[in-house]
Amino acid sequence: MTDVTLSSKNPTAVKAEALVVATAQTSDGVAVVSDQLPTDLLTQLESLAPQLGVTGARDEVRKIPAGAKLAADVLVLTGLGERAEDGTFATETLRRAAGAATRELAGLKSAAIALPASDDDEITAVTEGALLGAYAFNRYRSAGNGSGKDAAKDAKNGKDPVAAIEILTPLHKNQKAKVAAERAAIVAAAVHAARDLVNTAPNELYPATFADAAKAAAKDVKHVRVTVLDDKQLASGGYGGLTAVGQGSSRGPRLVKVAYTPAKPSAKVALVGKGITFDSGGISIKPAAGMEAMKSDMAGAAAVLSTVVAAAKLNLPVAVTGYLCLAENMPGGNAQRPADVITIYGGKTVEVLNTDAEGRIVMADGLVSAVEDGHDVVLDIATLTGAQMVALGNRTSAVMGTDEVRDEVKAAADATGELFWPMPLPEELKSNIKSKVADVANSGPRWGGMLNAGLFLKTFVGDHPWAHLDIAGPAFNDGGAHGYTPGGGTGVGVRTLLAFVEGRASAK
Ligand code: BES
Ligand code: MN
Ligand code: ZN
Repeated sequence: MTDVTLSSKNPTAVKAEALVVATAQTSDGVAVVSDQLPTDLLTQLESLAPQLGVTGARDEVRKIPAGAKLAADVLVLTGLGERAEDGTFATETLRRAAGAATRELAGLKSAAIALPASDDDEITAVTEGALLGAYAFNRYRSAGNGSGKDAAKDAKNGKDPVAAIEILTPLHKNQKAKVAAERAAIVAAAVHAARDLVNTAPNELYPATFADAAKAAAKDVKHVRVTVLDDKQLASGGYGGLTAVGQGSSRGPRLVKVAYTPAKPSAKVALVGKGITFDSGGISIKPAAGMEAMKSDMAGAAAVLSTVVAAAKLNLPVAVTGYLCLAENMPGGNAQRPADVITIYGGKTVEVLNTDAEGRIVMADGLVSAVEDGHDVVLDIATLTGAQMVALGNRTSAVMGTDEVRDEVKAAADATGELFWPMPLPEELKSNIKSKVADVANSGPRWGGMLNAGLFLKTFVGDHPWAHLDIAGPAFNDGGAHGYTPGGGTGVGVRTLLAFVEGRASAK
């Protein structure tokens, strides 16, 4: 990952390939947001803004030669949009502008970032945004992977992220600022790891190799233990959900527990993640168009794994246990059928009406297991329903559950800049998932599809404090990159889950 340091160098004097400075929209044009660049340079930039195509708008990044007045080679102008009423910029605005800039720095060795960074929150936002934007997934390119072996293909296919960045801040020696920057680096590494798992091709990433990836991620991390139940253990242990969904694939399911247990935990949090390494729909098979995006159907489990590892690296005083519900949903000869009745861990029965509603089935096993283990609170995260995207689009995730926990998740999300919105779980809709033969059916009418799925999950947590995060749309970006978000896996959820755990740490 990109190396990051804090420094108090003057932006004029800093020797780097690129110097990143912010622009803003004002009532009479464009302002360059810097009190350290020479005034004549600022005036020149601001007056030439129209010719340069610089408006100061958000997500606008322009690169120009730095000129003789600056020690850097290239000047990168990144837009912040309009100032808030109080004259500042929201931290999420800084985070996105930093990330939009570093996305344009791929292939470079060094850059200095001179965005507003005069308190811990701003330093966190700028550092996180810069590192989150400095991401590339070039693993599968035989040339043009930034190796430098073929410059033309590198230019076309993708380069490695900028190697090192300096964040310019007057607080470079301040202890809290340093801690903020170190935390940002751990958070960004966690988000990158989740993106990497999502982007990994499903012929390589299947339940057994995901379990291996969990062991690898936890290796050498203090107080983290990984235990794996394989397909045979799941079947004999009564995990009927994972078993049923996994049986259509030649590559059997796994339930992976990733437990971080600090010495004297002040709270115990469980995180349950949907890890369908590929969702073909099973016998209720999906249409061909767009099916490739279903390699991302394990994004919840990836976020959980990354969060547990990050909590450990941050030495949080909270016990966090991840439950990765891993299966491949395939229509093999032994696949489950619509009309099958299965028994979830703990004894409740489910009539499988649609094998494409597989996520809730594997999550049921994980949720019952988590509740049984006795945590203070259970969160689950899943690319659960297409209906989530119908309701909220592909940038805003949904959260539902017991009122307090749901609101706590929403507040945690707001603090990180991740977009979440609360959704209800209306009792009246429970009739939607009534089964004629079993305790509950795994699918219902199209209307309220996201809530039907949430209500299904609720059946397995009872009254336990709980929230369900549906990240179906935001987990995978099949459009263009924006802000600090690349195309492909986004790593959404990691920052919210981690903020939630941090909140529980300071609450006690
Ligand atoms: N993995 C999908 C949900 C999904 C859809 C995630 C699009 C990301 C993008 C899930 O397993 C699924 O297929 N859900 C069905 C449920 C239905 C059959 C009740 C859906 O939403 O259509
Ligand atoms: Mn499905
Ligand atoms: Zn699915």
